[in-house]
Amino acid sequence: MKTLMTVDECRSALRSARSGGATVGFVPTMGALHEGHISLARAVRSLCDIRVCSIFVNPTQFNDPKDYEAYRVNLSRDQEMLEREGVDFLFAPNVCEIYPEGFQTTVSVNEISKPFEGALRPGHFTGVASVVTILFNIVEPDVAIFGEKDFQQLTLIERMVRDLKMDIRIVRGALVRDSDGLALSSRNARLSCEGRTHALLISKGLFAAERAFNEGERAAAVLTRLVQESIESMPEPVIEYIALVDENNLQEVQTVQGSCRLLVVARVDGVRLLDNIALRE
Ligand code: PAJ
Repeated sequence: MKTLMTVDECRSALRSARSGGATVGFVPTMGALHEGHISLARAVRSLCDIRVCSIFVNPTQFNDPKDYEAYRVNLSRDQEMLEREGVDFLFAPNVCEIYPEGFQTTVSVNEISKPFEGALRPGHFTGVASVVTILFNIVEPDVAIFGEKDFQQLTLIERMVRDLKMDIRIVRGALVRDSDGLALSSRNARLSCEGRTHALLISKGLFAAERAFNEGERAAAVLTRLVQESIESMPEPVIEYIALVDENNLQEVQTVQGSCRLLVVARVDGVRLLDNIALRE
């Protein structure tokens, strides 16, 4: 695997790699890689000839400076993981390379950015949409993959690519969990031992809702209450939101019809944990 640090290096390496008509698959990340990220690289393997991963902790999408400072990336560890997976190129620029002095352009996806994460993290999605556009312009992928773990982000990228007529196929990568059910996240490393046990109540709640759904329950109020009750059995529960949404437009719904997602965000040990589950008829 070749690691590329600058925009010019990345463009010229990919231009040569692409020269015989090879197609490029892209996995954007912020590093601190885990099996969830690696599953995305694996999922695009059969869809392209060359696989490119990026690691860039994007400052503009962190509305909380403390969260940005706490975001720890060990580049050599991440490089080893990607090397083992057989990724061809890693693009790992520094902040000045992406945001040189005088930088002032942003991309906003209006409606999808408003609820949930957008309401709680002002500016977050403009940061995401802008950096993903920049990365797409550098890497020029044929296919790019985003995880269902960050479901609102995935929907936002799909909308942006459609609206801006970007010639990129966006693929959805399934959410990867630990064997005990906890959704894998780079932020899980910040949980205490006890916190990790409490965090399991989030996925337990989602699984309870899934079971109720499989037994015929369709009402949002009932399904969301099951998640709420599970989380409320923690000593100091902090629920940011629990919502049943239509998978296609992220609008909240009162009953499950077609393809829906149950979204949840709760804080454990001060760490924001996102999770969701598909409920499909
Ligand atoms: P990051 O949080 O590093 O996530 C990179 C990709 O991995 C995203 O598409 C995310 O949804 C996916 N991912 C994370 N945990 C996952 C899991 N448990 N299962 C499946 N996929 C998972 O998301 C970002 O970075 C940034 O916002 C980025 C898109 C790179 C823009 O800066």
